Amino acid sequence: MKKRLEGKRALVTAAAQGIGEATARAFAEAGATVVATDINAEKLAELDSVPGITTQVLNVMDRAAIEAFFKDEAAFDILFNCAGTVHNGSILDCTDDDWDMAFNLNVKSMFHMSQAVLPGMIAAGTGSIINISSIAAHKGLPNRFAYGASKAAVLGLTKAIAADFVTNGIRCNSICPGTVQSPSLNDRIAAFEDPVAARKQFVARQPMGRLGSVDEIAAAAMYLASDDSVFTTGTQMNVDGGMSI
Ligand SMILES: NC(=O)c1ccc[n+]([C@@H]2O[C@H](COP(=O)([O-])OP(=O)(O)OC[C@H]3O[C@@H](n4cnc5c(N)ncnc54)[C@H](O)[C@@H]3O)[C@@H](O)[C@H]2O)c1
Repeated sequence: MKKRLEGKRALVTAAAQGIGEATARAFAEAGATVVATDINAEKLAELDSVPGITTQVLNVMDRAAIEAFFKDEAAFDILFNCAGTVHNGSILDCTDDDWDMAFNLNVKSMFHMSQAVLPGMIAAGTGSIINISSIAAHKGLPNRFAYGASKAAVLGLTKAIAADFVTNGIRCNSICPGTVQSPSLNDRIAAFEDPVAARKQFVARQPMGRLGSVDEIAAAAMYLASDDSVFTTGTQMNVDGGMSI
C-alpha cells in the first residue's frame, strides 16, 4: 500500500527538537524524503541515521543562507515552517530588540522560506506550506505580548499566501498548538522560581487537563501535508486541548 507522503519532498525548519523533530520523523515514516534543518548542528545530527531524512544546518533568520540553500535543492512539495521563539512578558517588559527578535524569527523567517520555496512549487503546480502559529495568536495570554503579536501575524501571512496561490495548486495553512511538552517548554518552566507550581499552571490552562505532545502536532502537520487535505487552504487548525473553546 502506498504510504501517505510517498514521492513527496519535505523541508522542515527547527527540526532538531520538539515539534519540528517529531514532524520530520513522522513525514519520513510516511514515506517522504525529508530535509531536516536547524541551527543546532549537534542535535540535528541525531536525525542523520533516520531513513528518509537528510540534515542541513540552516539559520532561517539568515536570508543569504536561505538563498544559498535553495540554489542547490530540487523543488519541495512540502514546507513545514516551525522555527519560533517565545518572548515572555507584557508590553511593559518588551524592548525593541525583543520585538524584532520575535518578528524576525517567528514571521520574517516564514516570509523568506516561503518566498524561496514557492518558485519550485509553482513550476510543479503543487505544494503545501504549513506554518506553526500558536493559540496565543487568537487568545490573549498573559505575558505573551510580542509572541502573541508575532504569531497572529503568521495567520495573516498564511492567508495572504493561500489567496495568492490558490489557483496554482499550492495550499498554505497554519497550526495553532496549545501548550505542548517540548524541550523549550521545559526551559521556560525551569526558569520560574517554583517550577512545580509553574508546570501546574501550564496544565491548568488546558481544558483537557494535560499538555499536548509533539506527536499530536505532527499528526496535524501530516494531514495538512498530505493529499487528504487537498481542498483545505488558508485555514488555521487549533490543536490545543480545548484552549480556544
Ligand atoms: N511548545 C509549545 O508549547 C508551543 C505552543 C505553540 C506553538 N509552538 C511553536 O512551535 C514551534 C516549535 O516549538 P517547540 O517548543 O516544539 O520547539 P523548541 O522551542 O523546543 O525548539 C525550537 C528549535 O528551533 C531551533 N531554532 C531556533 N532558532 C532558529 C533559527 N534561527 N533557525 C533555525 N532553527 C532555529 C532551535 O535550535 C530548536 O531546535 C515554535 O514556532 C513555537 O513557537 C510551541
